[in-house]
Amino acid sequence: MGKEISHSSGPLLLGVMGDPIAHSKSPVMHEAALRAVSLPGSYVPLHVKPDRLAQAVEGVRALGFRGVNVTVPHKVSVMDLLDELDEGARLIGAVNTIVNHNGVLTGYNTDGIGYVRSLKEEAVPDLKGKTILVLGAGGAARGIIYALLQESPAQIIVANRTPDKAKQLAEEWSGLGHLTGCGNDDIAAAVKNADVLINTTSVGMHPAVSEIPINPEWIPEGIVVSDLIYNPLQTELLRQGEIKGCRTHGGLGMFIYQGAYAFEYWTGCEAPVGVMREAVLRSLQG
Ligand code: ATR
Repeated sequence: MGKEISHSSGPLLLGVMGDPIAHSKSPVMHEAALRAVSLPGSYVPLHVKPDRLAQAVEGVRALGFRGVNVTVPHKVSVMDLLDELDEGARLIGAVNTIVNHNGVLTGYNTDGIGYVRSLKEEAVPDLKGKTILVLGAGGAARGIIYALLQESPAQIIVANRTPDKAKQLAEEWSGLGHLTGCGNDDIAAAVKNADVLINTTSVGMHPAVSEIPINPEWIPEGIVVSDLIYNPLQTELLRQGEIKGCRTHGGLGMFIYQGAYAFEYWTGCEAPVGVMREAVLRSLQG
C-alpha cells in the first residue's frame, strides 16, 4: 500500500462515477479520510449515465481530478477509455479506481485486494493452505478470487448458478493456482471440505434480507463464513453461520479497504481506516 505521489497545487479533486450514485457511501468515507489526514480536497458523487462515460473520463483530465472511483455500471466499460491498466485490473476485467498521473489515467482494481485485506485482518490471518468455497462467478467474484489466489490457498472452488461461467473462470485462471468450477448442485459436497465459505452473490442483500445462498444445514460447524454484502451488516448467511459456531465476516471491511487502497494511491498518505469505518457506520445507521 501507499505509493508516493507528487501533489499538484490546489485542493485534491476526487469523486465516484456511477449510475445511480446517490446511495454511495464513498463520499462520506473519503471526505472523513481527507479531513483526518488534513489534506485540502473534496470527494464528490458524480452521476454519469453510460452514454456520457467517455466525456466524464475526459473531464477527469480536463478538470485536473487526482482520481476517481468507478462503480456500477461502468467498471468494465471504463477500461477502454484509460491510458494504462494495472495487471490485476486487466486480468479481473474491471476497474474501480482511476489515478490521474499528470494527464495519464491508470485503472486499478482495489475491490479484491480490499476484500482479502479485510478477511485477513478480521477473520483469517493466514489463507495459505486453506480450502475456500466461493459462491458466485460474476464481477465481484473475479476480483476476490484473483486476490485470494495471490495468498497461496490449497484450493478455491467456485460454485455458480450458471455452472459454465464458474468452469470457464477456473479454466481461464488455471495457471494461477488450484481453482475448480462447479454448479450450485455441487455446493453440498464442496462445502464439507471448506475452511472458508464466501458469498459473492447478491442473495440476502437488502431488501430481500431473509434469502440465503445455500441451505443452512450444509454449513459445517466452526468454519469461517464471509459475505460481501454489507447492507444488512449481518446477512441471513452470517446469522446461520453464527448458529453453527462459525467465525463470521461481513462485507463492510471490503468496502472500507477498497477505499483505503484507492485513497493511498491518490494521496500517498496512509489511509485512516478507523475514521473511514466510523464515518460509513454512522451514515448506514443514520
Ligand atoms: P457482481 O459484480 O456483483 O458480481 P454480476 O457480475 O452480475 O454482479 O454477478 C452476479 C453473480 O451472482 C453471478 O454469479 C450470478 O449467477 P449467474 O452467473 O448464474 O447469473 C449470481 N447470482 C445472482 N443472483 C442469484 C441468485 N438469485 N441465485 C444464485 N446466484 C445468483
